[in-house]
Amino acid sequence: MKQIISRQDFIKEYLEFFKSKQHHHIPSSSLIPENDHTVLFTTAGMHHLVPFLIGQKHPLGKRLVSVQKCIRTDDIDEVGDPFHHTFFEMLGNWSLGDYFKEDAIKFSFEFLTNVLKLPKEKLAVSCFAGDTDSPKDEKSEKIWLSLGIPKERIAFLPKVNNWWGPAGETGPCGPDTEIFYWSAKTKTPKSFNSEDERWVEIWNDVFMQYEKTKDGKYSPLQQKNVDTGMGVERTLAILNNLNDNYQTSIFQPIIKEIESISNIKYGKNKSDTRAMRIIADHIRAAVFILGDERAIIPSNIGQGYVLRRLIRRAIRYGKLLGIKENFTLKIAKVIIPTYPDYQELQRNHKFISEQLNEEELRFNQTLEKGLKKFREIATDNLISGKEAFLLFQSYGFPIEFTQELANEKGIKVDLEEYNSEFQKHQDLSRTASAGMFKSGLADDSEATRKLHTATHLLNEALRRVLSPDIKQKGSNITPERLRFDFNFPRKLTQEEIKKVEEVVNTIIKKSLSVKREEVPLQDALSSGAQAEFGAKYPELVSVYTIIDKDEKQGWYSKEICTGPHISNTSDLGHFKIVKEEAVAAGIRRIKAITE
Ligand code: SER
Repeated sequence: MKQIISRQDFIKEYLEFFKSKQHHHIPSSSLIPENDHTVLFTTAGMHHLVPFLIGQKHPLGKRLVSVQKCIRTDDIDEVGDPFHHTFFEMLGNWSLGDYFKEDAIKFSFEFLTNVLKLPKEKLAVSCFAGDTDSPKDEKSEKIWLSLGIPKERIAFLPKVNNWWGPAGETGPCGPDTEIFYWSAKTKTPKSFNSEDERWVEIWNDVFMQYEKTKDGKYSPLQQKNVDTGMGVERTLAILNNLNDNYQTSIFQPIIKEIESISNIKYGKNKSDTRAMRIIADHIRAAVFILGDERAIIPSNIGQGYVLRRLIRRAIRYGKLLGIKENFTLKIAKVIIPTYPDYQELQRNHKFISEQLNEEELRFNQTLEKGLKKFREIATDNLISGKEAFLLFQSYGFPIEFTQELANEKGIKVDLEEYNSEFQKHQDLSRTASAGMFKSGLADDSEATRKLHTATHLLNEALRRVLSPDIKQKGSNITPERLRFDFNFPRKLTQEEIKKVEEVVNTIIKKSLSVKREEVPLQDALSSGAQAEFGAKYPELVSVYTIIDKDEKQGWYSKEICTGPHISNTSDLGHFKIVKEEAVAAGIRRIKAITE
């Protein structure tokens, strides 16, 4: 086995290998997928490549290789063991209708055994067992056999194990073949048992050849693709003969910093070690979310809510380690230099620090009181939804956080009542379990539809009054007000605010109609529709246009957007900006209403 110590060296080997097989390197996409409202974060490289998996031509060709930053929140409760992470990096090679099973498997095998020099004797694989949607994958088995993987090291498993995708509810997916490595120091067993956790999955070759449709059917795609995924943290641990990802060079500086802040040795005590891993993992994920090219801040909605949960959970585990001082920032400072290849982290380091610090200060103000309240409440074997909501509303305890505290005491939380309490208060928050709202809207009521249209008017007005370079950086709408974040380096003057209001109100008074149409993405973009920078869109998008015959181009505003909107601006009433403030360096926030 080749010992590769650093993350950079390992990634370099991977990229070079696939470049030598004519793959083009594409940069990692944002952690926030666009136009897929069924997921909050990018969980794999495929999110951003969907258009190309279903037939659109990729400008760099049919063979791609990537290192994708991913967040999987499903695993949050598992974090604390040696292998699970919320944030991780995934290496992937892609065939967009080019090579298929034979080459994909041979490339994987060659890279593992020739480049990384993993002994073939320690490998095992699984293939898709077949069902009514897709046949048994005997082709992959044949290829593995031809490479010298013995029959007893090949398992056939059902869809729950050997099928990947779609990333959201619908889209490209297919059977896969997964590669496992015997991680224990003991002798490798003759046959493969997928239930034995000492067989660690290191690579997944997915044969993306179906599209899951809305009605739950699998229809063949017009091209057969390959999408592979290999976890950096996990494989690096294996290459260094470690059975704990947190002992790799990726995590060691972070763990050392936590040791020095807490004065506790990693690995000495089970619960402290778990706490240290949680802190390392969560702060690393928070750094990447805050540092993402799409500005995300801790909030009570969507990605911001997950971010808040991660930071607050890390802070609580810090308290459990006895850390008295504010510490998240110190850890972030060690994490950022570990990733010189993600320039967004360097670029946004000030923003990351500010946000972490603010969130920690905010939470520290209520944490102790909240914990006291929790202890008062937690005397029974059930915490009511109302009580859980109080902890959320007044002490900033995310519901999952309360559930975790309750769990530790063997107490249940009435989640149903909490959810209805939550709805009742028309709160903006949304939990992963409570489902997601479209377009940053808290609901689809008439009031939010109006404010959504007003948001488009505002977006364009800002471009006209301040700068054509203004881009939306976030939007959140409730029946009471709109909130709009955008890039601008300084505070707006009173005059500018007045001017923006005037532009919007003039458009409202003109009684312009709002038109929705479905058009191919390219047509939308070339017609001048606003799209978010760096966002991935499906081939067909809906475009909302506010028609204005007085304008040269025939419209006042045009945006790619999922809606919904009102049909005429005259329904809006008078537009008023009620607040203008900074949310971060270079990002302003406007709150506005219509009366
Ligand atoms: N999408 C697949 C996975 O996440 C392969 O990249 O495992």
